Amino acid sequence: MQRVYFDNAATTPISEEVINAMLPILRGQYGNPSSIHAEGRSVRAAVEAARKAVAQSIGAGTGEIFFTSGGTESNNMAIKCSVRDLGVQRIISSPTEHHCGTHAIETVEKVNGVEVVWLPVDAVGRPDYQALESALADSGGKKTLVTLMHANNEIGTMIDLGKVSGLCRQYGALFHSDTVQTVGHFPINVQETPLNFMSGAAHKFHGPKGVGFIYISPETPIKPFIDGGAQERNMRGGTRTCTASWACQSPRTRHQRNERTRGAHLRCPQLFERKTFRNF
Ligand SMILES: Cc1ncc(COP(=O)(O)O)c(C=O)c1O
Repeated sequence: MQRVYFDNAATTPISEEVINAMLPILRGQYGNPSSIHAEGRSVRAAVEAARKAVAQSIGAGTGEIFFTSGGTESNNMAIKCSVRDLGVQRIISSPTEHHCGTHAIETVEKVNGVEVVWLPVDAVGRPDYQALESALADSGGKKTLVTLMHANNEIGTMIDLGKVSGLCRQYGALFHSDTVQTVGHFPINVQETPLNFMSGAAHKFHGPKGVGFIYISPETPIKPFIDGGAQERNMRGGTRTCTASWACQSPRTRHQRNERTRGAHLRCPQLFERKTFRNF
């Protein structure tokens, strides 16, 4: 019996293209990217090329992308650092966010006294936009962060990123989106759809586990979440996982290829699986 893998929302297999791109670095480019000798410089060049590719794929500047250990770290960083560094006193979110989002919010509620508004969701788990607008209008002068995932990892429901971004701009709130399920599969452009923070994870678009990125808008600079050396332009201590960062590149190419199938998967997972199964 041939097995069919239907759990791409949990993780995707690493593609041949990514394995082939990683192999030369794994085999021969062992330098520390922070070292100034040739071995270090060649690895640093690969990491910076990957950063540029990720930045270009979402319309961001290269200096606005920071590699992390994945979606969990990026979400924690956006939520906790915006409270610590940007004076956020109020967070609007949804109970259907990934646990790394809801638990980070519960932490800042407990530790920092942040007020939290959990939006009601409809029958398909979409947050109520009317309730979002009312909550934004009713901020009581508190600096507010809206954090809502682009697509839900369990049920595939997507939010209208443009609409939420527009509402946040209108009411002067910051906006973070967990785009872990969509970046690399759906076109996202931070010039057209402004966000303050955006989280991605390579293992959801055929890259390795344990690497991801955070986009940080230059409007809302934050301080490091992980203290240490000067890596990631002083924003994240720790020797970089270079091959993995390298494998993070070119989500745009992948989204062009996967847009149709992945779109179907997210918009209607059951139908997609039934169809895929029939064609198999
Ligand atoms: C929507 C969403 N956010 C965050 C995460 C966490 O990402 P990572 O596993 O890279 O830490 C996941 C992974 O399951 C996810 O699906």
